[in-house]
Amino acid sequence: ATGPDPAIVEKQPWMQYLGEGVDAHPYGTPSPHEAHVVRRNVEWLTADPVSSVNFTPIHELDGIITPNGLCFERHHAGIAEVDPSQHRLMINGLVDTPLVFTMEDLARFPRENHVYFLECAANSGMEWRGAQLNGCQFTHGMIHNVMYTGVPLRLILEEAGVKSSAAWVLPEGADASAMTRSIPLEKAMDDCLVAFKMNGEALRPEQGYPVRLVVPGWEGNMWVKWLRRIEVGDQPWHHREETSKYTDLLPDGRARRFTWEMDAKSVITSPSPQAPIPHGPGHTVVTGLAWSGRGTIPRVDVSLDGGVNWHQARMSGPSLTKSLHRFYHEFDWDGRPLLLQSRAHDSTGYVQPTKDMLRELRGENSIYHNNGIQTWAVSEQGIAENVEVS
Ligand code: MTE
Ligand code: CO
Repeated sequence: ATGPDPAIVEKQPWMQYLGEGVDAHPYGTPSPHEAHVVRRNVEWLTADPVSSVNFTPIHELDGIITPNGLCFERHHAGIAEVDPSQHRLMINGLVDTPLVFTMEDLARFPRENHVYFLECAANSGMEWRGAQLNGCQFTHGMIHNVMYTGVPLRLILEEAGVKSSAAWVLPEGADASAMTRSIPLEKAMDDCLVAFKMNGEALRPEQGYPVRLVVPGWEGNMWVKWLRRIEVGDQPWHHREETSKYTDLLPDGRARRFTWEMDAKSVITSPSPQAPIPHGPGHTVVTGLAWSGRGTIPRVDVSLDGGVNWHQARMSGPSLTKSLHRFYHEFDWDGRPLLLQSRAHDSTGYVQPTKDMLRELRGENSIYHNNGIQTWAVSEQGIAENVEVS
């Protein structure tokens, strides 16, 4: 620098007048300088926005919690506009006493708080056959991580009395798609929540207001929003979302079904195509997210050279089961091109595979459950691009 920096030696406009008073924004919103931090969709992906998806801007976020207004949305029939006073949750089927709850009834059960990620099974699905979308928002943004407040589903089922022949439950949504999925009773009784708050406040309409099912670690499709009914049965129902959808066609014509758990996965969120390195060579911070539907992430490795050498990343923030984990890798960049990769290890000992390893096992027909290692090629200018290395 030649002279003093005016940004520090001169009085800025905001130092010269009073700001807005309290109550100017009864419900606060981010700074106008952050207006670019929004959910975005990929228009050519779907024919119509009511049966579509948009993506969480993970390249702009830090820590592990996704702010409510930035949680990606996936609707099969648009956002149901539910009046909570007219909304009910029914438990029927193989129970001693079928029950209908109001939202006030649900608030009288003991409730719990848990942070869980929700990942759509189709997250990274467009990348099965090769690198396609230029930004982790689009390749990995069908994920959010929220603290839910809700009632353990077990308590609600016990209230109705589950018959001994019961083995499955079928949650159903109150939206026009009336989404349903078969869930084993064992999972329903284990850690599922009937949730009405996210990050402390009421669920957003996009996320299923006033009540959604939380199915920790399992594919997002099972987390039925606008939850209105849970049927208890002795067999799976084989509905659309577990036959024609959310199954993985293998090269030999067989299909993987009921692939509920989300495998361990990670992605570098910065630098990435939407978050280039702005500063040239020197001290550089790499950061990203890692998660597993089977537990915690004790370790993430980062490679700067496309997987030849690996460095153990620094984890920071709470390590909670079935929740996003934040990692960092700080290094001195010599300004030469990089091939950035991250590789998650989960608490079961499983290690995130390469994309080629996945294709070898499952072929190229799949959309769902792509947890392969992502590569960003970074140029000397600090520009990052979605690539694959073999
Ligand atoms: N529940 C209902 N009732 N209707 C839906 O369209 N979409 C499912 C699931 N629950 C859906 C639903 C899918 S495919 C996903 S990935 C998650 O909700 C998305 O949750 P989100 O919109 O909170 O991100
Ligand atoms: Co989904």
